[in-house]
Amino acid sequence: RSYEYLLVSEPKPGVGQVTLNRPKALNALSTPLITELNQALGELNSSDSISAIILTGSEKAFAAGADIKEMAPLTFSEAYTKSFIESWSQLTTQVKKPIIAAVSGHALGGGCELAMMCDILYCTETANFGQPEIKLGTIPGAGGSQRLTRAIGKSRAMEIILTGKSVSGVDAAQWGLAARAFPSYEALMEGALKTAETIASYSKVAVIAAKEAVNKSQDLPLRDGVEYERRVFHSLFGSQDQKIGMKAFAEKKKPEWKHE
Ligand code: HXC
Repeated sequence: RSYEYLLVSEPKPGVGQVTLNRPKALNALSTPLITELNQALGELNSSDSISAIILTGSEKAFAAGADIKEMAPLTFSEAYTKSFIESWSQLTTQVKKPIIAAVSGHALGGGCELAMMCDILYCTETANFGQPEIKLGTIPGAGGSQRLTRAIGKSRAMEIILTGKSVSGVDAAQWGLAARAFPSYEALMEGALKTAETIASYSKVAVIAAKEAVNKSQDLPLRDGVEYERRVFHSLFGSQDQKIGMKAFAEKKKPEWKHE
């Protein structure tokens, strides 16, 4: 399938890659682009051959935000009745496979929010993260005030959201917004691919369960989260791959996952 605003590829067996491709607008996230993104991620999620997904943009821009020109004329009633932006979070509810965001250049507003919806965030040292909505007379609308605060704490999130000032990839990695910052675009893409391949080498069942359990930590109080984890852990004794993995360890062999 071909898309107007995306490129979809399989750079290594088991790894799906979605590249935002609207270069004239620095990958501004218009409604048609988000519709395509949900479609592409949905297909990768249901593909039997894919185990991990990379979401990236260009070297210059991951995404410079929601499409300001599309939003400018919206009225309250239109935004409210059509649930403007709600479809963005499909990524967090419909995709069970891990998504690695590989961020180079601008990740502003909705671009930063989209990157934060992913499971692992990698960036270049010169990446440019920010929530500049305040400069447009509005506030983050796709989870920025919540996810950024959970990622880097209240004071730093307040500073970014209230001033509209950007932070570099170096700071993002130091503060825990990104897992790692790479010295170049090439190193970023190579690093993302290596991590995706590593994830794709494990049992799909275990990988999906691990992602689910970690994500619960963002929603549940600790006791409930620990209990949730234990239940999922218990359930994995019902998988073939748990038997395969532990038997292979005992026999000093490489596990041959059945993904069941
Ligand atoms: C629509 C955008 C855009 C955006 C850039 N463009 N960002 N169009 N929506 N968010 C367009 C420009 O209009 C321009 O089109 C082209 O992309 C190139 O951008 P330039 O500004 O010429 O590039 P540059 O000088 O390199 O500056 C890069 C930039 C700047 C610093 C990233 O473009 C910028 O500040 N963009 C807006 C960033 C922002 O405010 N994002 C938050 C949006 S609000 P033309 O046709 O002129 O060539 C948001 C709300 C989220 O995201 C809430 C819910 C999701």
